[in-house]
This record gives sequence, structure tokens and C-alpha cells, in this order.
Amino acid sequence: MRLILAPMEGVVDHTMRELLTSLGGIDRCVTEFVRVSEGLLPPRVFYRLCPELRQGGNTASGVPVYLQLLGGQPTLLAENAGRAAELGAPGIDLNFGCPAKTVNKSDGGSIILRQPERVAAITAAVRDAVPHHIPVTVKTRLGYEHPELFLDIVRGIAEAGASEIIVHARTKRQGYRPPAHWEEISRARETVNVPIIANGEIWSAEDAMRCQQVSNCEDLMLGRGALCRPDLPRLVRAARAAQSVPALAWAEVLPLILDYYRLTLANYDACYAGNPIKQWLVYLRTYYPQAALLFNLIKRLRDAEDIHQALRREMLAQGLVLDAA
Ligand SMILES: Cc1cc2nc3c(=O)[nH]c(=O)nc-3n(C[C@H](O)[C@H](O)[C@H](O)COP(=O)(O)O)c2cc1C
Repeated sequence: MRLILAPMEGVVDHTMRELLTSLGGIDRCVTEFVRVSEGLLPPRVFYRLCPELRQGGNTASGVPVYLQLLGGQPTLLAENAGRAAELGAPGIDLNFGCPAKTVNKSDGGSIILRQPERVAAITAAVRDAVPHHIPVTVKTRLGYEHPELFLDIVRGIAEAGASEIIVHARTKRQGYRPPAHWEEISRARETVNVPIIANGEIWSAEDAMRCQQVSNCEDLMLGRGALCRPDLPRLVRAARAAQSVPALAWAEVLPLILDYYRLTLANYDACYAGNPIKQWLVYLRTYYPQAALLFNLIKRLRDAEDIHQALRREMLAQGLVLDAA
């Protein structure tokens, strides 16, 4: 079984990838999407979304980070994929799942799923432009309005030479509304030989086991669930090996939040410095009630030092030792 951390624009940036991969259990990450709408992008755009390119395309824990491209023009995407490969991306992923109106209006993301032949043409062009040893993967939904074209989409991607297909088991119209239709993925498994990775609504180790069974896929991609429970990959691995490991306690999560805060400080203007941890606490509070309390304490704080102090007070309240920083 392989577990892949889902790309999440504005949430899973390199800092979050660093933190989550340091906890173990993740085999691969994917960057937030690089939007390709005109021309060859300068290297700085790739480095900004994927600073890991400066360290061999891996997180500090040695987990490869595939670079995700989004767009609708085969030649442009191919050129930019070639550049990403030159800069050292260990793999290229193509985004055909994004439901955002602004993205779809500019001819990128899930809107392309209305035309399976375009999905195939883009995949083929990118595959051709990238050296053979670098995998090209495709992330798709079940379709745009409805899943009727799903098998055509998957067949086209496979024939275009993709290395793997990641399926978020919902149509664009279904957005992020539960359930995810894992059973649809099993139809794709019967249709093509390319490895398929199942994605959508995996919040616990039990969900992961059920998803494997229903989708008939060994490999899984974890998104929001891994933000709510940073040890989810480890828990899934343990469940797969029929072992039981204790879940991460709040007192173990808190130092991670403080570390994350310190790491993100460097990337934001002082008055927005609290935004990334506030956002993460919103995810964490679905599993840790203490995260909801902490969120309420800091949600109106703007000053970086005030936020820092609030986090340190929470650490002390949990009986945790503070380092000097
Ligand atoms: C805030 C947010 C941002 C996302 N950004 C991306 C993205 O940049 N590229 C992409 O392919 N999918 C993106 N997704 C979709 C996720 O990768 C994933 O397919 C989806 O959340 C379903 O998986 P989950 O139920 O495990 O979260 C995003 C999802 C969310 C909630």
C-alpha cells in the first residue's frame, strides 16, 4: 500500500508537507497547482510552490514531491512540464479536478473533463515532453456534471501513457459533499491496467480499509483527513498490518502547532502571520476539541507575539516544557 498526501491549494504548502512527512507514513506529496495559462513560466514560480526542488525534489524527510500543473493547452503544459522536470521535479501531476469557478473559467481543472479527448491530448503531450524516467500522473474527478464519461476519461489517460491515475471519487457538481463514490473507482480498475489511487472522504483508518475494499485499490490519497489527524497515515498503515497504535494525543499535537507557527512566520507579513495556524486549527478541531478552544482564543489576535504567547500558555497548561525560542 502506498499513501499519498493530497495537494491542497493554500493549505498544504511546503511547510505543511515538511511537518506531515516528518511524522512518517507518507510515500509521496503533490504541490499546490501551478496554473499554466500563457507562456513558459519562469523558474521562480516553480521554486515558490515547490521549494523542495532545491533539495532534490524531496521533503526534509526524503519524501518525493510531484509538481502539479493545471491548464487546458497541451503545448503550453508540455513546455512547462519539461521545465519542471529540468528543475528536478521527481514527477509531474496534472490537475483535472479543480472545481473553482475562476479556474474553470480560464479553461483549467475539472471543466476539461467534459471533453475526454482533451484530457488524453494533454496527458500525451506532457508525457512526450518529460524524460521517460519521470512519472506523469493524472488527478481526475469522476466527471464534470455526471460520471457518464468517467471510463472514457480513464481509458484516454491510460492510452496517453500516464504512469498512474488518482481519482477523487466525486464529480465536479458533487463538489466536496459526502459521500465519495469509491465504487465508481472499481469500474476504472476493471477498465485499465494503469495503477489507480483512490481519493475522497478518508477520515480514519476504518475509512481507509473500507475505501480499499470498495474501490479495489491498494493505494490511497489522503487530504483533509490528514490535516484533522496528522498521524492518519501512520494509523492507516498500522490498521493495514492489523496492528493497533495509539492515536496522537493533543499534548503531542500542540508542539507541532507551535513548530508550524514558527516555520510559517517567515513566509507571511506580520499581520497575516496567524492565518496558517488558524486555518489548520479549523481542521484539527474536527478531531481535537482542544483545538476548537485554542482557535477561539487566537482567532481575533493579529499580533505575532500575542499569538506566540497564547500558544506558549496552552503548552504550559498542558504541562509541556517550553524551549527557549
Ligand atoms: C482547500 C482545498 C484545496 C485543494 N487544492 C487542490 C489542488 O491544488 N490540486 C488538486 O488536485 N486538488 C486539490 N484539492 C482536492 C484534494 O486534493 C482532494 O482531492 C479532496 O480534498 C478530496 O480528498 P479528501 O476527502 O481526502 O480531502 C483541494 C481540496 C481542498 C479542500
